[in-house]
Amino acid sequence: MEKKTQRSQRTLVLVPAPYQGHINPMLQLGAFLHSKGFSITVVHTHFNSPNPSNHHNFTFLSIPDGLTAGQISSGNLIGILLAINANCKESFQQCLTQVMKQEARNDITCIIHDELMYFPEPVANNLNIPSLILRPNSATNFIARSALLRLHSKGYIPFPLPDSLSLKPVPELHPLRFKDLPISTFDTLENYSKLMVNAQNVRTSSAIIWNTPDCLEQSSLEQIQQQCQVPILSMGPLHKIATAASSSLLEEDTSCIAWLDKQSHNSVIYVSLGSLASIAEKDLDEMAWGLANSEQPFLWVIRPGSVCGSDWIDLLPQGLKEAIGERGCIVKWAPQKEILSHDAVGGFWSHCGWNSTLESISEGVPMICKPFSYDQKVHARYLSQVWKTGLQLENEIERGEIERAVRKLMVDIEGKEMRVRALELKEKIEASFKSGSLYGSLNDLVDLIRSF
Ligand code: UDX
Repeated sequence: MEKKTQRSQRTLVLVPAPYQGHINPMLQLGAFLHSKGFSITVVHTHFNSPNPSNHHNFTFLSIPDGLTAGQISSGNLIGILLAINANCKESFQQCLTQVMKQEARNDITCIIHDELMYFPEPVANNLNIPSLILRPNSATNFIARSALLRLHSKGYIPFPLPDSLSLKPVPELHPLRFKDLPISTFDTLENYSKLMVNAQNVRTSSAIIWNTPDCLEQSSLEQIQQQCQVPILSMGPLHKIATAASSSLLEEDTSCIAWLDKQSHNSVIYVSLGSLASIAEKDLDEMAWGLANSEQPFLWVIRPGSVCGSDWIDLLPQGLKEAIGERGCIVKWAPQKEILSHDAVGGFWSHCGWNSTLESISEGVPMICKPFSYDQKVHARYLSQVWKTGLQLENEIERGEIERAVRKLMVDIEGKEMRVRALELKEKIEASFKSGSLYGSLNDLVDLIRSF
């Protein structure tokens, strides 16, 4: 009995990377593990710290990250993550030592860290605590990233990519073209490679938790497992396995739900470019008129600061409001998962971040894909060419192309066929919860952690 009580107090330390697309899956995983009786401590950087108020069951501990104001305002994600990994080892070790000294929490069972936060691993080894890696993006992206690193190390990837190479297929990575490789535009390829080589490395981790459904990425997962010494647990989509409270860094504007309630079935195109992408003023103009001219109702998230040179919607074109009337709703940040499951939403124009991709697929919502950077390009290509639930905008953002794409997705037979395929994928994902691979992985993870 006493042993049972001790076990129920076992603490798992989670270390998310400080970006929205990484915080969400880590806290969703935390919600699942908490439901299995583990106590959850989230150790996070000062930078982009998650809001603890929605997660009363978790303990949040902040560690100094050593970032300068200049690094933060640069928005250079690669530079920021390299700096965090270089700066945080000591403060993390001190933090864990403190946690272990506390009477009731002297038993840290394991550390689960985001793949981009590799500084916890040597600390885990020092303190003799097992560690697990959470990979919050797709397995296919992992393979594409490995290929990119290989080609780069052999000097085969000029940067930036010349036009002559960009449309050529990457050998053995069909249907990816060189332009679809997950290259960052934020920093040099050298710095990007440095971060990614560390992110790809399994080192001494006991297993990899992957936020992806086996039914979507089976062949990529199998290919990776063949070369990986430790178990890979495909546990996606994490947002479906436990009811986790919102972990939004920005305040969600829920008023758009009342607007959606007034729209008819599958009529609304939801538009959001995620938590990092930004656009120029001219792109905003083109998006606005493309959406207005499509004559479909739209719900558009314009994140503050995401339009260069503007705080929010001050740069929206004149005459737009009159042109759209009640047909458009614009918010700063939305409860995205709720929106995608709303009956009125029939399509999603997305940057194809992995969370958005999974959230859309698991609600059977077809997509317009406009990737900006990183893995988004891999996902856009897979959505349009492999899963066939999306159509990709390949060119500069232009109102005529947007108008045609929105109509194609929302009205034409092509869009209807994509919706049917998206619904089939949704059903497959739902089935995997009941008896399939996901169910097995969830049990395997809990068993593995209990065995530590
Ligand atoms: C970043 C990278 O761009 C992406 O490619 C990588 O896979 C994860 O990190 P991000 O831009 O944050 O992703 O996109 P995404 O992965 O889609 O995550 C965004 C999250 O914010 C989603 O969970 C989405 O539901 C949420 N969101 C977005 C909201 O809650 N409200 C919004 O208005 C917009």
